[in-house]
Amino acid sequence: MDLGIRGRTAIVCASSQGLGKACAVALAEAGVSLVINGRNRELLDHTADEIRRATGVSVTPVVADLSTVEGQATLLAACPTPDILINNNGGPPFRDFHELDRQAMLTGVTMNMVTPIELIQKVIDTMAKREFGRIVNITSISVKMPISGLDLSSGARAGLTAFMAGVARTVADKNVTINNLLPGSFNTQRLRSGFANASKKTGKPESELVAHAVAAIPAKRFGTPTEFGQFCAFICSAHASYLTGQNLLLDGGAYPAAF
Ligand SMILES: NC(=O)c1ccc[n+]([C@@H]2O[C@H](COP(=O)([O-])OP(=O)(O)OC[C@H]3O[C@@H](n4cnc5c(N)ncnc54)[C@H](OP(=O)(O)O)[C@@H]3O)[C@@H](O)[C@H]2O)c1
Repeated sequence: MDLGIRGRTAIVCASSQGLGKACAVALAEAGVSLVINGRNRELLDHTADEIRRATGVSVTPVVADLSTVEGQATLLAACPTPDILINNNGGPPFRDFHELDRQAMLTGVTMNMVTPIELIQKVIDTMAKREFGRIVNITSISVKMPISGLDLSSGARAGLTAFMAGVARTVADKNVTINNLLPGSFNTQRLRSGFANASKKTGKPESELVAHAVAAIPAKRFGTPTEFGQFCAFICSAHASYLTGQNLLLDGGAYPAAF
C-alpha cells in the first residue's frame, strides 16, 4: 500500500535502536525524510547510514538528550517544521515506588510527559496551518495495566495521555492527528536488559524468566520492532486522517479486556 506520505519530513525521537528505530525505518520505506536522534553518536550514525543505504531517503542524525531544553532545541533546529513527530524516549528504570525521591519523580515526569508535550507545543501550529500533521506518542501497556516497579513510568505516560486527549480534539479539523501507541513486550535491547537484570536479582536463569513471560502472552511470543514500526507508519499515513486521540495497544493480546 502506498502510504501517501512520500516527500514528507519526520522527527523520530530516541531512534538509534529499538522501537524508535523501527518507526524511522518504516517511515523511510514510505519515502519520508528523517531526523533521527539518540545520545550515543556512534550508534546513531550507524543507524543513519543503515537507513540511508536501505531506502535512499535523507537521514539527519541529531545527537541530543531529548529530556533537556538544549537537546530539544538542537533537534528542532535540524527540522523546525516536521510533518510527522514520533515522540519516544527512554523510560525510568524499574524501582520500588518507596525508593523514588522527589528528584527521581521529577526526572521521570520530565522524560515521559513534559518532553513530548514541549515538542508538540513547538510543531503543532505549523502542522495545523499546513493542514497535515501526524503525532504519535510511544507510551506503554503500563498506562492501562500496572507493571510492578514501573509506577513512575505509568504515571507520567498516563499524564501525557490525558493531556493530549484534549489537545487532539483542537486540531482534528486541520488534518493533524495525535495518537498513542502502547507497546506490550517487544524484543528490544530494553526488554532484553530487563530480563538480564531480573535474572541477576532473582538468581533464576534468564531463559526461564523469558519463557514465563512469553507464556503469559496470548500470541506466545514477544512483538518484533519491525511490526511495531510498520503499524506506526500506517498511523502516520494519508489514510489515517480520521483516527485521532486514540490509545492503540500492540501487545499480542496481553491486556485481558474486551474494551
Ligand atoms: N520494548 C518494550 O517492550 C516496551 C514496552 C513498553 C514500553 N516501552 C517504551 O518504549 C520506549 C522505547 O523502548 P525500546 O524498547 O525501543 O528501548 P531501547 O531499545 O532501549 O531504545 C531506546 C532508544 O532511545 C534512545 N534514548 C534513550 N534516552 C534518550 C534521551 N534522553 N534522549 C535521546 N535519545 C534517548 C536510545 O539511544 P541512546 O541510549 O544512545 O540515547 C535508544 O535509541 C521506552 O520509553 C520504553 O519504556 C518499551
